[in-house]
Amino acid sequence: MKGIFKKALSLTMVAALAVSVAACGDGATMKKIEKSGKLVIGTSADYAPYEYHTMLDGKDTIVGIDISIAKEISKDLGVQLEIVDMGFDGLLAALNTNKVDIVIAGMNPDEERRKAVDFSKIYYEAKQGIMVRTGDKEKLKSIDDLKGKKVGAQLGTVQEKIAKEQIMDANLISLGKIPDLVMELKNRKIDALVVELPVANGYVRNNNDLALTDIAVKEDTGGSAIAVRKGNTDLVKLIDQTLDRLMKEGSIDKFVQEANEMNVTTEEK
Ligand code: ARG
Repeated sequence: MKGIFKKALSLTMVAALAVSVAACGDGATMKKIEKSGKLVIGTSADYAPYEYHTMLDGKDTIVGIDISIAKEISKDLGVQLEIVDMGFDGLLAALNTNKVDIVIAGMNPDEERRKAVDFSKIYYEAKQGIMVRTGDKEKLKSIDDLKGKKVGAQLGTVQEKIAKEQIMDANLISLGKIPDLVMELKNRKIDALVVELPVANGYVRNNNDLALTDIAVKEDTGGSAIAVRKGNTDLVKLIDQTLDRLMKEGSIDKFVQEANEMNVTTEEK
């Protein structure tokens, strides 16, 4: 076994690791990663530009900002990357039952989630928007115009909460996957979608029949962070080191750009 964490861990961190092994099992995660030689990430690959499926060299591949970041983290840890793709609403349970080592899924570290897991630093910030059919854009101009309308949001997300809290009498339709919600919007089953702006922008670019409204929603999502099991403080430190490096190098902006460039559909979604 090669000392895979040697490079990344400073002496103080090794000492901290020893303490936390006893205290909260942090070492167990590190040992598992080292022993298996791979970092297993949980994600919900329905979320371009963060993580999504695309054909690369004729093969279905998961790509995106989060995947590029995860590759760097596993590279810094000296291990392989393994991706487990599942519904967004099952990610934290998968983390806490040891099915995955970390969760990276454009996830906002809100208060409720912080009770269940720990988070890295914020690596990307984005605002929220309301996407509608192009033909309805002129009709739906303020949050009040959405009153009583069928509004969609992804299950278990901050967007679902925004719809519930900020749209009066909204008839909320929550589904597990964003592409399914977009289909419902196109097929007039729902009238609007609460969605993160980078995600909405991709759909609007690729679909003439979809548009972003000027409706502003209140913001308190605070950006995306990577989730680890509670007490996995040394793993978070290593993740934060990689994030610091990527932010300093300007790599995250580059990943965003690459992910957007790859997010092109020729056929109708
Ligand atoms: N940012 C939102 C949240 O944390 C939605 C993230 C959805 N991510 C995904 N990969 N589908 O609740």
